[in-house]
Amino acid sequence: MINGLPGKGIFFGNMKGGVGKSTLCMFTVDMLKTIKPELDIMMIDTDPQATSSSMMKGLLPEDRIRFMPIGDRFDGAVLSTIDGVIKSHLMDEDSIVIIDSAAGRIGNIWQVALLCNTMIIPTSLSWTDMAPTIDYIAEIDSRKVDYDSITPHIIVVPNRMSPNQKDYSQLYNKVGELNVVIAPPVCDYSVVRHSSHNFLGLKSVEQTRFYGEIEKLAQFITSHVLTGKLDSIYEE
Ligand SMILES: Nc1ncnc2c1ncn2[C@@H]1O[C@H](COP(=O)(O)OP(=O)(O)O)[C@@H](O)[C@H]1O
Ligand SMILES: [Mg+2]
Repeated sequence: MINGLPGKGIFFGNMKGGVGKSTLCMFTVDMLKTIKPELDIMMIDTDPQATSSSMMKGLLPEDRIRFMPIGDRFDGAVLSTIDGVIKSHLMDEDSIVIIDSAAGRIGNIWQVALLCNTMIIPTSLSWTDMAPTIDYIAEIDSRKVDYDSITPHIIVVPNRMSPNQKDYSQLYNKVGELNVVIAPPVCDYSVVRHSSHNFLGLKSVEQTRFYGEIEKLAQFITSHVLTGKLDSIYEE
């Protein structure tokens, strides 16, 4: 058990915008709901743009979606409210909190990430996404050292890959030396781009390759995060 909390917090983050934090966050919530119906999932949207909290309406019960925006200036009251919501929800082993965050440096939201078991960091392989991603990971790593914490574990998700791309060595070379694990990749699909204005969840992508990739990602999260595999790797 990490932080004395039986449940698991999962934080979607990246300094870079447009990498797929909200998209992967929303589809992952919907997929976990499908493959692990026993879970009690709460989603917290901290992005002032309120993308995921408004789009997930109808896909999660109203009291399982929280919009708690964190802006640039220090907002101690919001941070401590989020803190309280996470701690009270994660009292049960089958509870998970999934947090979608805005682009930007980790800053004060670190205190929220520190309550989480895992951070999920999407990136494409383009250098304009990878450079800030690497900076972001380096900053989280140094905070973990400062706080003497093995969590949040970091999972990098290659997103918006070309469906023909089979060579991930570029990504491994760049992030392989960092303290991260790499999840199965997600490709770029027009069906996903089209869902960004009117999100209907998994049912809008049934029988697509994207559905299969989100399923693999959710299974990876289940096996590595929910069953505690990453905890045992890092506890050694
Ligand atoms: N795998 C994907 N395939 C196609 N489009 C994607 C994919 N992932 C994200 N997008 C699109 O990229 C844009 C940015 O994604 P978003 O999730 O809003 O990023 P972030 O939350 O990191 O800013 C959206 O228009 C979204 O539909
Ligand atoms: Mg977003």
